[in-house]
Amino acid sequence: MKKIVITRKINPNMIEKLKKDFEVVVWNEDEQPMPRERFLEETKDAHGVMTMLSDKVDREMLENAQNLKVVANLAVGFDNIDLEAARANEVVITNTPDVLTETTAELAFTLMLTAARRVLEANRELMAGEWSGWSPYHMAGTDVFGKTVGIFGMGSIGAAFARRLSGFRVKVLYHNRSRSEVGESMGAELVSFEDLLAESDFVLCAAPLTGETKHRFDKEAFSQMKESAYFINIGRGAHVVEDDLAEAVRNGDIKGAALDVYENEPIGRDHPFIGIDNMTLLPHIGSASVDTRNNMMNLCVNNIMEVLNGGKPITPVQ
Ligand code: DGY
Repeated sequence: MKKIVITRKINPNMIEKLKKDFEVVVWNEDEQPMPRERFLEETKDAHGVMTMLSDKVDREMLENAQNLKVVANLAVGFDNIDLEAARANEVVITNTPDVLTETTAELAFTLMLTAARRVLEANRELMAGEWSGWSPYHMAGTDVFGKTVGIFGMGSIGAAFARRLSGFRVKVLYHNRSRSEVGESMGAELVSFEDLLAESDFVLCAAPLTGETKHRFDKEAFSQMKESAYFINIGRGAHVVEDDLAEAVRNGDIKGAALDVYENEPIGRDHPFIGIDNMTLLPHIGSASVDTRNNMMNLCVNNIMEVLNGGKPITPVQ
């Protein structure tokens, strides 16, 4: 029987589906990733693996897993995977595009409005019993309507975010490797990176992490943004030089930031972002709705089954 390793607790129905034809090993922990040693040990004789973005699928792992045919990553991003080593070892890599687009765009929107209207700050004040009553500028934030919103990365999530903006009477700019027909059909205008930074009141990073985009948002980039602007990130933490962002917000070079992703996750209390008032920080929950996570799991399971039964992967990344 072919062996499948699943590195985190998932929906039991998916496991049952796989168990009909395969031996399935599951790391049944919700909070903790499968330890690296165990991951290497279990995948050594595995034919298929369902990985999380916290698992490193590198050359060591791929060369160690002699029977491996497919890695189904439970994420649209796959920067945790060495694609070159996968190609060299003839391992198919799949991800979960499309099924998480709307959910992740909703979270990007949530971050933007939460930051603009100081929702977390206001909530913290009230919960601490520190609300002293109504006053004209109490917790006064920033409007989104009538402003300029810049999208870095007009892929499917960027486009779903732009679609949501249509009711807000905003100007939408975007910066992308190539022109986006979908983006432009929603009135978004392609601009240079510099113009995106200089003109936007809200800059959303929704790009995949590549060598080209890594650390693109650095001191220089933040210095080009308006002092009143917000930076929002639902892409990957490594798009950002985090010390530079912390300094930009602390010094008032930009108004604030709203983030779902960090370069090294999870972050702890010693992270430079902690304690800065104008930071809206979430623990990487972009695609975390129950329906979407089930759909992502289902897509991973179907990708594994297709490949191991001799068919074609449904959503290969290469
Ligand atoms: C992804 O799918 O890459 C997201 O970051 C998961 O929330």
